[in-house]
Amino acid sequence: MKNNAKIIFFFILSSHAFAGEYHGQADVICSDCHTTHYSQQGTLPEGAEPGGPFTDLLLVGSVDQLCLSCHDGTDPAAPDVLAPVVMYNGAIPAVSSAGYFDGPDGTISGYGHDLGLDTQVPFSIPNRNAVLSCISCHDPHGTANYRNLVLNPDSIGADKQVALGSDVFEENHPRVPAERAASINAYKASNSGYRSGMSRWCADCHTDLDPSNPGNPPAHFMRHPSDIAMNGTGYHINAAHWVAGQSDGFGLVSDDAIEGVPRLRFQQPDATDYESSKTPEETNQVFCGTCHYAHGGPFKGSLTWPYKTDGSADLYSGCQQCHYK
Ligand code: HEC
Ligand code: HEC
Ligand code: HEC
Ligand code: HEC
Ligand code: HEC
Ligand code: HEC
Repeated sequence: MKNNAKIIFFFILSSHAFAGEYHGQADVICSDCHTTHYSQQGTLPEGAEPGGPFTDLLLVGSVDQLCLSCHDGTDPAAPDVLAPVVMYNGAIPAVSSAGYFDGPDGTISGYGHDLGLDTQVPFSIPNRNAVLSCISCHDPHGTANYRNLVLNPDSIGADKQVALGSDVFEENHPRVPAERAASINAYKASNSGYRSGMSRWCADCHTDLDPSNPGNPPAHFMRHPSDIAMNGTGYHINAAHWVAGQSDGFGLVSDDAIEGVPRLRFQQPDATDYESSKTPEETNQVFCGTCHYAHGGPFKGSLTWPYKTDGSADLYSGCQQCHYK
């Protein structure tokens, strides 16, 4: 039965274009997520929940529930995106590149994106609402983008490219078939180096943060800019302090009692590979990923350091790395 399902689906889907990321490669396993006929009575197909058949022949009723059935830490080789996450303990920083959600569908959280709730999109012009799910941001069948990110999150205007190998670089590529140690190496935050594309992708929903709108002098910008380098004329940046990476702002661990956090993420606009995307230089740029995790994480506001944690020794550490005063 399982094999038949694969063969039938293979023909249906031959019109889809697959790219290089997992769930979208030649080895895609349809039966991870679909069942052809559900069941007439009695025995459920492997991995299916009762109450079906479900829309799109899925194994479970909600897409997020489906994705989280593996991505909640129970499948040891699947990257865990649901708190609590222990998978990356020991890595510096001890999180994946996207961080994690505070809870499943319906959880209201100040620590990251909320799944399955009808909410206003902050910083969107015009005002609009959205119900976020895994497939608001990832295509379950793969795309040409890094991490199978959807090409056009708000479905309006041009596609937003974030391509692996040109916009983002990896030190270790995920292994197929997946295996726990390889997944940890491939998805930990330090494994990705950035060149471009990600801020534009985020700002497809958060439109008011794109581009870095100019401000009225003496302010350079309306809001905190993204995709802007440290070495512009007259900038309030200590680029030498950023490049040196020592003392104020810099440290080994976030939210310990000692001031300083690991170097925040940055973009390098002329990077050509992982090495060059990770080299501290005065031409490095600040971007959304400097300050936020895409899913959420340990700190309020999806922030990458405890900027909103009263009493933390690291309150301003992130800002200090660039704006050393
Ligand atoms: C990682 C989970 C996952 C895998 C693996 C997967 N699918 Fe899907 N599929 C989905 C989800 C989720 C939807 C619903 C998409 C939506 O609602 O927009 C879907 C929808 C579909 C649809 C309905 C139309 C469409 O394209 O949206 C078809 C047909 C389909 N899948 C075929 C396949 C085939 C064939 C394979 C194997 C080559 C496959 N799927 C593998 C999750 C998956
Ligand atoms: C049957 C288990 C399973 C289900 C269901 C599942 N995944 Fe995965 N997913 C995995 C595993 C395992 C990996 C790691 C693959 C690797 O490292 O080679 C992965 C990897 C990924 C990646 C990273 C891809 C890359 O190569 O960068 C994304 C994004 C992802 N999954 C999203 C989803 C979404 C969205 C859904 C629901 C539509 C989903 N997954 C459903 C097991 C699953
Ligand atoms: C598909 C549309 C969409 C995309 C793409 C998107 N967001 Fe959001 N974002 C939302 C919505 C809706 C909310 C409000 C509800 C919530 O908090 O989840 C939100 C809220 C947020 C918040 C506030 C979260 C909190 O509770 O503290 C931050 C920070 C954020 N987004 C950053 C980002 C970043 C960074 C990216 C790119 C990696 C991104 N967003 C991509 C729709 C989107
Ligand atoms: C608001 C958009 C958004 C939503 C919603 C979202 N993702 Fe992601 N996800 C991203 C982005 C962006 C990345 C890549 C971040 C990076 O590498 O900088 C990512 C990365 C990942 C990865 C790679 C591992 C990691 O943690 O970095 C997996 C797996 C994944 N997402 C699965 C999921 C699943 C499962 C869901 C639903 C429970 C989901 N995502 C919902 C935007 C989103
Ligand atoms: C990775 C480096 C980096 C980090 C971290 C960073 N900034 Fe900035 N910031 C910049 C750059 C680059 C500019 C543009 C240069 C300028 O305008 O002086 C900027 C501009 C500013 C401006 C001036 C805007 C203007 O119009 O002149 C303020 C204020 C500011 N940042 C505050 C902060 C605060 C507060 C934090 C911590 C929450 C922070 N920054 C974190 C790089 C960074
Ligand atoms: C220099 C750091 C920095 C950069 C770069 C940055 N943010 Fe933020 N962002 C913050 C801080 C700090 C807050 C929390 C403000 C507060 O709640 O007091 C925030 C809040 C947000 C919120 C929540 C607003 C609300 O009302 O809930 C969204 C959405 C958001 N940022 C999206 C983005 C996106 C998208 C980008 C890239 C285009 C980005 N940010 C770049 C630091 C940054």
